[in-house]
Amino acid sequence: MEYVTLSNGVRMPMLGFGVFQIPDHEEAKRAVRTALDAGYRLIDTAQAYGNERAVGEAVRESGIPREEVFITSKIWLSDFSFEGAQAATERTLERLGSEYVDLMLLHQPMGDYIGAWRGLEKMLAAGKVRAIGMANCYPHVLADLCETFAVRPMVNQVEMHPFFQQGRNLETMRFYGVVPEAWAPFDEGKRNFFWDPVLTSIGRKYGKSAAQVALRWNLQRGVVVIPKSVHAERIRENLDVFDFALTDEDMAAIAAMDLGRSEIVDHFDPQWIRFLHSIG
Ligand SMILES: NC(=O)c1ccc[n+]([C@@H]2O[C@H](COP(=O)([O-])OP(=O)(O)OC[C@H]3O[C@@H](n4cnc5c(N)ncnc54)[C@H](OP(=O)(O)O)[C@@H]3O)[C@@H](O)[C@H]2O)c1
Repeated sequence: MEYVTLSNGVRMPMLGFGVFQIPDHEEAKRAVRTALDAGYRLIDTAQAYGNERAVGEAVRESGIPREEVFITSKIWLSDFSFEGAQAATERTLERLGSEYVDLMLLHQPMGDYIGAWRGLEKMLAAGKVRAIGMANCYPHVLADLCETFAVRPMVNQVEMHPFFQQGRNLETMRFYGVVPEAWAPFDEGKRNFFWDPVLTSIGRKYGKSAAQVALRWNLQRGVVVIPKSVHAERIRENLDVFDFALTDEDMAAIAAMDLGRSEIVDHFDPQWIRFLHSIG
């Protein structure tokens, strides 16, 4: 496993396991156990995913020392306020059955995220979270936060895959020393992702799948990846990306795939904003 060091010195694995859309307790627990047994040491959950309890149980039952597993969770915007973010963090700790969470993110830069961030800064000072960050910040929002907050986000978790590469966001994160983390590294399977001709032809040279090529591409850009799967063989496949390297030519071929926009969420559509506010 490769690691990246966050701005406060905390070490974070470069590849983790995402558990979005696994609401069933037993299924989530089984998937996380499979991932831990395979060698994953980062689990990415969220209050909105409804599976923090399953993650906590899987980690405990794995027998792996707690300090060897990096757990990320996220606070949903219905809890965004100075007091709300602190209370929500305590609830995450209770559900995880842990005295701390390694990384706590604010799930969207919406609502009272300024107040919520100050709440997270308090949790950081109290040692209840080891690192704090944001999710879904576009570059102008991230720059504004970095110019505003006393403690800058240590991570910005955003959608990043070959069809939505977010070059400007990546540059902004590098400028402010914010570690980039890619959600939906496979574009959630859209556009026939796993059969994409560019990704599969590159993969053929190395005996790797399109999924592995896409993960490797983000890793080589310095981006942490958190693929999700409920299938054991795919869980193992997605971790097997540290024994090959893409050439500059491969990287350039993938760079040409960028559509420059998301096909999963549209943060510029008022209907999406209303929808996100209606959850939780
Ligand atoms: N911060 C945010 O707002 C946000 C938003 C979305 C996601 N996330 C995080 O990012 C994680 C990953 O994103 P995601 O789950 O949305 O999408 P993703 O990882 O891009 O794609 C997951 C899909 O790909 C399939 N898959 C996985 N590995 C495969 C392989 N090797 N070959 C073929 N199919 C494969 C999975 O199917 P099976 O499960 O059936 O194998 C699933 O349908 C989430 O789990 C979550 O932790 C964060």
